[in-house]
Amino acid sequence: MRLAQRKSDLSARFEELAWCETALGAISLRRRREPRLKVDVYEAKLGDEFLMSSLFTVGEVELAHLGLAGLPGRDLDVVVGGLGLGYTARTVAEDPHVRSLVVVEALGEVIGWHESRVLPNSAGLVTNPRVRLVHGDFFAMAAAPSGFDPEAPERRFHAVLVDIDHTPQHVLHPSHAAFYTVAGLRRLAHHLHPGGVFALWSDDPPETHFSAVLTEVFASVQSHVVTFPNPLTGEESANTVYVARLPLAQRATVTSTRWNSLTSE
Ligand SMILES: C[S@@+](CC[C@H](N)C(=O)[O-])C[C@H]1O[C@@H](n2cnc3c(N)ncnc32)[C@H](O)[C@@H]1O
Repeated sequence: MRLAQRKSDLSARFEELAWCETALGAISLRRRREPRLKVDVYEAKLGDEFLMSSLFTVGEVELAHLGLAGLPGRDLDVVVGGLGLGYTARTVAEDPHVRSLVVVEALGEVIGWHESRVLPNSAGLVTNPRVRLVHGDFFAMAAAPSGFDPEAPERRFHAVLVDIDHTPQHVLHPSHAAFYTVAGLRRLAHHLHPGGVFALWSDDPPETHFSAVLTEVFASVQSHVVTFPNPLTGEESANTVYVARLPLAQRATVTSTRWNSLTSE
């Protein structure tokens, strides 16, 4: 086969849609044809690590379903931490019980992928009046009294669903680690209504230590193992979704002077 023909076949099978340096490392978005499955696969990589692939979205979608399941009411206000390819956020946005969704994403470039419709999945997010894509550091917002909505400081939510790090132990940046502690999760809990839910995606099986940390802060804690067929290996893969819920009883209002002392370990 001629070189020009091979190059043209390659570019039909593989395309780098975006690449840039960010505070977390070089991020890239690629589209490639998966010949065995005859589908286009969208992949985001951060440095050498795969951040997200459109081939594996069952756990991301289940994060939304499991996190919202059983929340009473039709006017739910929800936060999603980590936009990525948008599967979790889009599943939340499609839930008719959700009144508003704030999606917090640290990389403006990722928000740009959706706004410029480079990804096939974006329309339901960027044109939905109930959805706002907020450029910010989820963990810094979780740790601050002002919280997740820059337009409404100290606003509380019915659910906060997070898919940012690989696992509570395997974080993308060392600054994320403090979130997965009792003090970090107590700070998060102050942004939830009584009875509110925190749900977390993890690439590892359920961890006893992290479940114990959740139990210190929340009234009920469940870890769901979500299994799905891996079309590349022909075997089954699994993710974990932790779902933790606050008690329904009203809690005391926390003033900013008490914030640090209440939430330190
Ligand atoms: C695994 S992806 C999320 C996948 C998403 N659940 C989906 O359905 O496509 C993780 C996302 O978190 C973002 N991220 C990384 N650090 C963050 C931070 N500190 N605050 C908010 N988002 C962050 C990454 O840029 C990436 O878009």
